[in-house]
Parts: sequence; C-alpha cells; structure tokens
Amino acid sequence: AAEDGLNGWLRYASLPCSKSCHSNLPSTIVTLNSTESSPVYIAGTELHKGLKGVYRKDVRVSHKCKTSSSVIVGTVDQYRKTCGAIHSIPELEDDGFWLSTKGDAVQILGQNERGALYGTFEYLSMISQGNFSRVAYASNPSQPIRWVNQWDNMDGSIERGYGGPSIFFKNGQIVEDLTRVAEYARLLASIKINAVVINNVNANATLLDPKNIDGFGRVADVFRPYGIQVGMSLNFASPQTYGGLSTFDPLDESVIKWWSDITAQIYKRVPDMAGYLVKADSEGQPGPQTYNRTLADAANLFAKEVQPYGGIVMYRAFVYNQLNESVWTADRAKAAVNFFKELDGEFDDNVVIQIKFGPIDFQVREPVSPLFANLPNTNMAIELQVTQEYLGQQSHLVYLPPLWKTILDFDLRVDHQPSLVRDIVAGKRFNRKFGGSAAVVNVGTNTTWLGSHLSMSNLYAYGRLAWSSTDDAQDILHDWIRLTFGLDRKVLDTITHMSMVSWPAYEQYSGNLGIQTLTDILYTHYGPNPASQDNNGWGQWTRADQASIGMDRTVKNGTGYSGQYPDEIATMYENINTTPDDLLLWFHHVDYTHRLKSGKTVIQHFYDAHYTGAETAQTFLTQWESLQGKIDQERYSHVRHFLDYQTGHSIVWRDAINDFYHNLSGIPDEAKRVSHH
Ligand code: GCU
Repeated sequence: AAEDGLNGWLRYASLPCSKSCHSNLPSTIVTLNSTESSPVYIAGTELHKGLKGVYRKDVRVSHKCKTSSSVIVGTVDQYRKTCGAIHSIPELEDDGFWLSTKGDAVQILGQNERGALYGTFEYLSMISQGNFSRVAYASNPSQPIRWVNQWDNMDGSIERGYGGPSIFFKNGQIVEDLTRVAEYARLLASIKINAVVINNVNANATLLDPKNIDGFGRVADVFRPYGIQVGMSLNFASPQTYGGLSTFDPLDESVIKWWSDITAQIYKRVPDMAGYLVKADSEGQPGPQTYNRTLADAANLFAKEVQPYGGIVMYRAFVYNQLNESVWTADRAKAAVNFFKELDGEFDDNVVIQIKFGPIDFQVREPVSPLFANLPNTNMAIELQVTQEYLGQQSHLVYLPPLWKTILDFDLRVDHQPSLVRDIVAGKRFNRKFGGSAAVVNVGTNTTWLGSHLSMSNLYAYGRLAWSSTDDAQDILHDWIRLTFGLDRKVLDTITHMSMVSWPAYEQYSGNLGIQTLTDILYTHYGPNPASQDNNGWGQWTRADQASIGMDRTVKNGTGYSGQYPDEIATMYENINTTPDDLLLWFHHVDYTHRLKSGKTVIQHFYDAHYTGAETAQTFLTQWESLQGKIDQERYSHVRHFLDYQTGHSIVWRDAINDFYHNLSGIPDEAKRVSHH
C-alpha cells in the first residue's frame, strides 16, 4: 500500500476494459531506440507497465517498426529512419512532441527523446483515465526552463521539508541506494520537469569534494534516462572556506581559476550538468558584496565557467538586508529591484535571474514581484514553492495553483503593452532566449513524498503549469484526482471542491487583506503568531498598533515601493480606491475602522473572514469522510488524520488572530463572537 503513495499519480490502477477499449489498445509497443538507459527505452518500459496495470494487457516491446495495432515511440528523426516518411506534423520545439491516436498506430514522436518520453506519459495519462478519444496534436513547452529545487542538506535534513529526510544525502554524502531517486525521476519526467537542483541554496561546499562529485554523478546517471539534468547550488565562499584560498573575490584570478577547475571536474563526471544555482549576499550567505563587486560580477563568473559546457546559472533575486522598522520608508519588498534593476543588460546570456513570485517570501497573498517588469534585457525565471513553508506545512490542505495563477496571469503593463508574467518568464515578452520556472519542492523519504497525499496535487500542477501556463487550475486538479484516486464521480467532485476552496480558506483564517500569513515569522513559520511580525529586522512587518494597520508602500506617504511598478500598475496601487481589497494592507496603512469596498470595516472583515475561513476548513473532514470505502483504507486514514488536525488548527488560527487584533484595537466584533482575554 505504500506503493500508492510512492507512485503518486502514476499508479496505473486497473480499469474495466470494454470492447471498444480492447480494440483501441495496441498489441505491440515499438520503441525506436533500444539503448537501455535512453528516455525512449524508458518510455517503452513505462508503456508496458501502464498497459499491464490499467488493462491487464501484457504488450510485447519491439524495436522494429510496425505501423498497425501498435504504439510507436521515438524521436521524429528516429521515426523517419526506421519507419519511413511521416505525414506533415506541426513544428516541434525543444522537448516538444507529437501525439496521435488517430491512425492504425498510436504515434508518440518527440523533437528529442525527452519529448518522446513526455508524450508517452501524456498518452498513459489519457488511457489511465479511461480516455480513448481520437486526438492528434503537437505539444510544445511554454518555457524552456522547468526546474525543481530541493533544499536538501548534506546531513540528510531538508530546510523547510516536511516529508522526512533527504532521498539524496546522508551523513555528509550521497546515499548509496538511489532507488527513491529513480522513483522521483519518474514522477518528475511525467510532469515534464527537465532539471533538478539537489542541494540547499544555503549550500555546503563539501559537495565539491571528489567523492561527493562522484556521488552527484551517480545521481545524474539515475536522472538521465528520464530526460532530467541535475544542477548544483554553490556556496559563494567555497574558494576560501573549502579551497583554502585567501579570498573569494569573484574578480580575483586565483578564485576564477579555482572555480574553473572545480567546474571542469564536475563536468568530467556529469557532462550534461544543467548548471549552477546561486544564493549570495542573502540571509547570511556570502556574496560579492564582501568585495564591493556587483551581483552581475558574481553571476557572470559562473556563467563563463559553465558556458563552454552548455550550462546555465540560475542566480537568485532573493537578496535583502536586515532593516530597522523605526524607519518609515524601510521596506524589504523594495530590495530586489534596488539590487538588480541597475544591472539589467549586464548579465551574460546564460544567466537567468530566479525571482520569487512576490517581493517578500511565498506569503499567502502577495502582489507580483515588480522585478519582472524591470529586467527587459535579462533572462528571468519565476520561483514558486510546492513545499508549504508558510502555508500549513502539508498539515493543512492548500491547493496552490489558484494562488500561482494570480501571479502568472497578472499583466504588468510594461510600456503600456500587455505584459503577462507568464509571457515574461517564457521569454516571449522581451524576446529572451531563456526563461522559465523553478519550484522548491522538498520531497523526502516519506512514502507520501511531501508528507501528505493531498499535497502532491501541487507538485503535479506545478509541472503542468511550467509546461503549459494557460492550463486551468481545476482541469489540472481533475486529472490529478482521477490518476491518484480513480474515476469515481463523488471522489472527483469532493476532492475538487475541497481543494478549490482551500487556498481562499487558508488566506481567510490566517491573514487576509494582504497583511500576509501572520504565522510565526522568527523560527518555525508555522502556526499563528501575529506579534512576531513586527519589531524585528526581517521586514515582513504589519505596522499594527492600537488604531491602525498595514504597510504604507505608496510613493506619496510611504516606502515608495508602488513606484517600482510600471505606470498603470503603480497608479492603481498608489491610490487606495483602486487597490484591490485583498492587497489593501500590503499597500496602505489604514485605521481599523477604514471601510472596504464591501462596506465593512477592516477589523470587522478580519473577524468575519477568520470565521468564514475556519468554517470552510471544518467542512473538509466531513466531506472526506463521505468518501470512506471509495479510497483505500491506508490513504483514506492518512488524509483523514490531517484534515481532522486542520479542523482544529483552523480554529486555533481564527481565535489567535481575532483575539490579537481585538485586544490591540479594543474594537468589538459586531457579531459578538470575539471576546477579551
Ligand atoms: C525563506 C526560508 C529559508 C530559505 C530562504 C530562501 O526565507 O525560510 O529557509 O533559505 O527563504 O529562499 O533562500
């Protein structure tokens, strides 16, 4: 039964097979590459497994072309060589594929082998959902960069990971048994992820020792057949702390030479390494500022090293300093634009700036990071978080795509032209060569991967959106539910309903109106602790006092943050009347008695929303219980346990937040639910 968790959405659970289903099933699998560790070969084994699992049909795998009653998988070129001419198919981009179930043979043809594997998983997804419709289409990625990041430490712990210890590291080394890594590779390939960074952005230089480089190579060997490249997070001070040099100045000759040698060693073992990920000058991490060098000096140092090998550098925009709250204009949200804007155009072509979706840190609601509008001459990628650091840490059900969509679909109106974030990161808006997405995932050795079964919908959806950012959040969810829990209509409707209301509910019972999550900001990032937000250097402030609340980020009276957006957006946020209520306290400092567009006061909205949100969360358990018997006992109980917990914890949240603001403001709840403590 642990298998159910490990296989995630790739369970290939058996379905009844009617006559028409039978006539639609291939009797031969043709793979156009017989090399064992090739993605096309893997596609063949996966097809075999899928047909056997879903329809109990043991289909022979052959490497000879057979164009009737078969499923043929390979690249377009392999097809031409082995099977002959192919009818006109649309242009395929890198990693793209053609899938046709219309002819005598199912054709799954990739632009490259990775694409062929993606098409295979897409076909398997269809038939695992009992879908035998006749389709013929080309599918191309909306973004070339579709990465995941793991924040795994060398000792096997995972920063902000809630699914147990690392599948990669233990006791300072790469683990011997990489079975789980292969299983992870399979899941990631099925959602069209093309690279994974396996170590924490707060990086430990010991990954660079020869034994560990070899271990890193073993990991790469496991991922490679799945079309997934590996990447590595670097510690900027490595030349000094690990290499024994007297400096880590990015412009120093000995430092450059040191990185050159290390890079050569890594590429010798991993010739197709995707590249480096760099967090520098942030949260205590060393960086170029120590030597008064720019962030571009740092990024380009690595870019030049990996360039000859075809690698790229993902340089994180998450750079900020501690601030003093007594300064009214101090604002962490401004940091990224302040650091990076002036460097636009100075980054090498193979540098990509990896930007968290909002200007602070994966909060329950944030405006789009204004940096996306400020780097027209730089490659950019958006950073999302699948691991629910601030969002209940997998103990709360929070389906994230509706949140991500508020960002991806946002129009920044750069130069008064349509400038959707999803088009910017795809490289389309500013005609950039690279662009894309990275998500912090943090799966662990837990057999559910993330710690709870329902959280896997977020990983699944992340991959889907990285490939096709216009896909609908609910459609994606439907596929995930059917693949994970079967085709029962009630199961589908119930989990869909719970999931779709889960993010709004979490926002309501944690922190609404753009005030952020109100979680414990200092250590755990878990549970309510509104008092912790202020009077510290972290800059996730609410500026709540007895009479008023919110960050004034206007140009007129506040930190000036709203001025970092293009005109139309800046004007909207600058004016309290045109600022959407759900970001009101992000941009404005108002009295608790300020009236929202709904007519309610801010404080009454707080009280009401916390009740509404918790009430919604309390329906999850009973909804889930109505599915007993329709889901295997083990997964049923595991999920039930979490929803039971969420029922209670949403009330803890509700009362903690409401009591806090009630005590602070002294303003009674009109409905008389909140009382003095
Ligand atoms: C958050 C998180 C840290 C992490 C950091 C980052 O602040 O709490 O654990 O290191 O983001 O993204 O670098």
